[in-house]
Amino acid sequence: MTTKHTTIGLFGFGCVGSGLYEVFQQNPTLQAQIKKIGVKHPDKKRSLPASYFTFNKNEILEDESINVIVELIDDADEAFIIVSEALQRGKHVVTANKKMLANHFQTLIDLAKKNNVSLLYEAAVGGSIPIIRTLEEYYNNDTLTQLDGILNGTTNYILTKTLNEQKSYDEVLKEAQALGFAESNPTMDVQAFDPKFKLVILLAHAFGVIVRPEQLFNYGIEQLSQHDIRFAKQRDYAIKLVASAAIVHHKIQAFVLPKFVPQNDSFYAVNNEFNAVQVSAAFSDKQLLTGKGAGSFPTAAAVLSDISALRYNYAYEYHKLNKHLKPEIDNNAFIHIYLRYSNSDVFEKLQFETVNEEYRSKGYNYIIGSISLQQLIDADLLNRRDVFVAAIEEVPHQSKKTTIDSTIKLAESIH
Ligand SMILES: NC(=O)c1ccc[n+]([C@@H]2O[C@H](COP(=O)([O-])OP(=O)(O)OC[C@H]3O[C@@H](n4cnc5c(N)ncnc54)[C@H](OP(=O)(O)O)[C@@H]3O)[C@@H](O)[C@H]2O)c1
Repeated sequence: MTTKHTTIGLFGFGCVGSGLYEVFQQNPTLQAQIKKIGVKHPDKKRSLPASYFTFNKNEILEDESINVIVELIDDADEAFIIVSEALQRGKHVVTANKKMLANHFQTLIDLAKKNNVSLLYEAAVGGSIPIIRTLEEYYNNDTLTQLDGILNGTTNYILTKTLNEQKSYDEVLKEAQALGFAESNPTMDVQAFDPKFKLVILLAHAFGVIVRPEQLFNYGIEQLSQHDIRFAKQRDYAIKLVASAAIVHHKIQAFVLPKFVPQNDSFYAVNNEFNAVQVSAAFSDKQLLTGKGAGSFPTAAAVLSDISALRYNYAYEYHKLNKHLKPEIDNNAFIHIYLRYSNSDVFEKLQFETVNEEYRSKGYNYIIGSISLQQLIDADLLNRRDVFVAAIEEVPHQSKKTTIDSTIKLAESIH
């Protein structure tokens, strides 16, 4: 079936929804029209006449002339109800809602397939970066070995400003909230749930595996302190919140963790609200895609691209999902980390495989070494205010478990 004329029922007229409307106004040649907009608050002032809006979702969902639902609301549970109903009614869906997708991924994919309609979500990951279609189409037959991403614009903005403008984390967060970059409740971003939801989506297209968000470890930047910032500056590291996935021995290691990145790292200069995804593939080797990861127009541009793709009946084929080999998530891999702590009781729960460096001074202690991700998860110390963990490049280590004395000397020489 070719979607000749696209008649859209739009849900949400906030940052992205109103941006999409504006983009439509500036592209009069689009063979698509927004017929009705579903919103929540009747008393809100709108930039369009009241006749455009409805507060009753069924007015849109039951309208048979509407063949495409664009879902851009900020309530993942309600979005799931709207999107499921739309798919069941045989309407194509375009959404930017990563939380909804990550929590109901298999159900939604099955619903779209059963009803022979498309479910597209380019805007849900990396804002304007065309990563989903790139993974689906370009890397269709190349075996991916690794994928890393800066997938959250809010935290990248906070980290950039904190490091470059000598401001504290709390100061920059307040500034980001005032600018509308960070939400009043920034938990999803700063605790790294948002990039984890995006990683769930990427895993399906990159490696052919659908996981529950709870299966992936996420640790954000809430505990970042001036000590960690000074540590980064002294070594000319940038700090990035990185979602990582790699295939190791037919298993997938995937997690979200802050990372100290050196100047020669592709992510070093990805700043502010920019996102980036680096894909490592067997034949094409490393490739970096970067672009604005948030904001009204960049996100609307990705939504528009999906709407346009519906005109030629585009649907994800999930080539890799359909392969027989289903890689499993493996949290037993060793990762190289920087762990800052104030009380050495943390070591009652941790057993480092190797220690490259250790530093102790009043109130500021850190250790750099390798530890298994599973051990880090089991230790249950990551909610402590006095602990901050970040991945760090592996420097060639000395003997296994170097003596504390010699490493203290080494650490002191750089402080
Ligand atoms: N902002 C970004 O840069 C960005 C980037 C990528 C993806 N996204 C995703 O895009 C989606 C929208 O984000 P946003 O930033 O545009 O949100 P937003 O500015 O907070 O706007 C949310 C909109 O959803 C409407 N809404 C909320 N609950 C509703 C319900 N139950 N029924 C109908 N409408 C409802 C609100 O209605 P009222 O107008 O009546 O309040 C509002 O128009 C989210 O899934 C977000 O994660 C956003």
